[in-house]
Amino acid sequence: MNKALRRPVIAGNWKMNQTPAEAKALIEQMKPLVADADCDVVLCVPYVDLQAAMEAAEGSNIRIGAENCHWAQKGAFTGEVSAEMLKAMGVPYVIIGHSERRQYFGETDETVQKRVRAALDAGLTVILCVGEYLQQREQGITEEVVRLQTKIALGGVSAEELKRIIIAYEPVWAIGTGKTATAEQANEVNHAIRVCVGELYGKEAADALVVQYGGSMNAGNAKELLAQPDVDGGLIGGASLKAADFSVIVGAAS
Ligand code: 13P
Repeated sequence: MNKALRRPVIAGNWKMNQTPAEAKALIEQMKPLVADADCDVVLCVPYVDLQAAMEAAEGSNIRIGAENCHWAQKGAFTGEVSAEMLKAMGVPYVIIGHSERRQYFGETDETVQKRVRAALDAGLTVILCVGEYLQQREQGITEEVVRLQTKIALGGVSAEELKRIIIAYEPVWAIGTGKTATAEQANEVNHAIRVCVGELYGKEAADALVVQYGGSMNAGNAKELLAQPDVDGGLIGGASLKAADFSVIVGAAS
């Protein structure tokens, strides 16, 4: 499985951080630092920051994404935002199935599948998150968990649509904890995801699939993680809120 076939994607996930003014300032800081990146650079930001972020990033190599979207085009879903609305704004990326949505907001594999469907129908590129809890890792069922999450999320996704899917492997125990998976652990699960996608869509599709690692990736450990044959980028939380750190990670992927 040839890593050279894939262009790495470094994506920030700002989570519930940054006001629109702060978003603008941070992107202005980042722009010159990542201008020479030889990878795709994406920042996924809170809904209220999208407009300011898109304006700040205009003309640069930074692309903007949202952190979630609803599965319906519109309707009585107070507080939700549809993929169609993101499309109308010109937002190209959306994260779906982040473990914080699964953990705190009742997201299930089934709702993840519905959101993926809506995002693809709206023409967006999806960063689909999968990952196991510590207890599941200790039980030795990491691969089973991640394979099932992947298969359910991709239910109904065509081979053509798969080209607009990035999968982010994020072990829940490594998120925001400072505990990173070892490079070997990250590569092992990323590889398992690629094998799973290969079973569903064939080798060519699996070879082309970008599989990121996420979970306490930072300026210090990015190089080793990104050097792994099945790690094609990162989904970065905390370190994406610091321009210098984020640009080091982008540099490590380039
Ligand atoms: P941290 O990089 O802060 O651990 O967050 C990872 C993450 O959840 C990205 O989606």
